[in-house]
Amino acid sequence: MTRGAGKVAVIGAGNVGATCAFVLAQKNIGEVVLLDIYEGFAKGKALDMSQGGQILNYDGKISGTKDYEDIEGADVVVVTSGFPRKPGMTREDLVGKNADIISQVGQGIREHAPDSVIVMVTNPLDLMTYHMQKVTGFPPERVVGQAGILDSARMTHFISQTLGVSNEDVQAMVLGGHGDTMVPLPRYTTVAGVPITQLMDEKTIQAICERTAGGGGEIVKMLEKGSAFYAPGSAAAIMAESILKDRKRSLPCSAYLTGQYGLEDIYIGVPVILGSNGVECIIELDLEDPELESLQGSAAFYKEQLSSILGY
Ligand code: APR
Repeated sequence: MTRGAGKVAVIGAGNVGATCAFVLAQKNIGEVVLLDIYEGFAKGKALDMSQGGQILNYDGKISGTKDYEDIEGADVVVVTSGFPRKPGMTREDLVGKNADIISQVGQGIREHAPDSVIVMVTNPLDLMTYHMQKVTGFPPERVVGQAGILDSARMTHFISQTLGVSNEDVQAMVLGGHGDTMVPLPRYTTVAGVPITQLMDEKTIQAICERTAGGGGEIVKMLEKGSAFYAPGSAAAIMAESILKDRKRSLPCSAYLTGQYGLEDIYIGVPVILGSNGVECIIELDLEDPELESLQGSAAFYKEQLSSILGY
């Protein structure tokens, strides 16, 4: 299916949702609708962003609402509604509260934007993406989670800082769940095509991998109230754009596996091609045994959580 000039609905007008909408606005998406249970919050931010159009030279329509009728015809729905972490919390600590929110939001999307592709951001990401697919009953390729782009961007930042090179020339690859079990892949992480395993010693690489896995927590600790939003909101916008414009970008995302990497019936971070149909292809990297074991270990953790906490 080819999608048109484009309408994106962003559910949740908080820090992540508003950042995502602002990045999309600057990409001149035809229409961006911000939906929040606090109507004034969504409307006020939408009006503020609309007024910024003249300053930053964008002119698409941006509106705020609390009514799901207004997301009708959305090609992409980005879901950011839900509680963020506080210091000391893991993403998994949010599961109970956020699962209820996702159930409610999923019903609204199913009724009013049944042909959309859903980009999930709400944490715990891989679990909430699975839950959203079940609630909507959408084909799994039309529900995808944002995590790998953010985790790879964090790793990229640490590498560019360590080596003193532009982050534009660094390409990092992080797979697995969006949490402590994530799987940074140094062998597939390059600077201008050269694997970092040829550029840094093992200890430095290990430190970067560990800082990447704890990257969100590092920011939560500094902020004290809430969690990161500039990079997560921007990453979700990049996914929405790739779907809307059928760009077929190759990006690590949380996707539904049906046997790839020896895993099935699970959402977990893997490289995919994102186009107008959502996840159009899952790329199977040639992993060495310890890398595959880490990915499978991450999946096993989430499988256990899906059954013990969410009852799947
Ligand atoms: N429907 C619509 N919006 C809702 C609902 C709901 N049922 N429940 C909550 N919201 C809205 C809140 O009103 C709030 O404006 O979701 C928004 C969440 O915004 P923030 O509290 O600022 O949280 P944010 O930092 O944006 O994080 C949102 O993304 O990265 C993840 O872990 C993060 O799960 C969290 C989510």
